[in-house]
Amino acid sequence: MQIHHIGYLVKKINKAIPAFENLGYKMESDIVFDEYRGIDICFMTKEHYRVELVCPKSKDSVVYELQKKYGNSPYHICYICENIEDEVEKLRDSGYVKYDEPHEAIAFSNKKVCFLIHPYLGMIELLEENE
Ligand code: NI
Repeated sequence: MQIHHIGYLVKKINKAIPAFENLGYKMESDIVFDEYRGIDICFMTKEHYRVELVCPKSKDSVVYELQKKYGNSPYHICYICENIEDEVEKLRDSGYVKYDEPHEAIAFSNKKVCFLIHPYLGMIELLEENE
């Protein structure tokens, strides 16, 4: 599976963006509010790397506790797959469990994503791209 991005928790997205720009990252998308996950989100790229800045907007956000625990920190790598249900099924045999159900993500033009947890690897994200 190809890597799509590295997910990065940030406390203040408007402060994080110029900090990444200082290191040579460029904005790839505007900041989008994802209501389902309660986050502001944007993508930045440097060479062939892409980071996804994720900023919880309230205590109800699914990543609020993670951000409190980890501070400003990378927290998942996202992999591209062709069929999310098939891939989840395969990864289950390798010890992954679903962190949430596959759902459409506004930041990806409503392509499907799903988060999984592995006991010795932590969190990964799957992004379905099948065109
Ligand atoms: Ni992500």
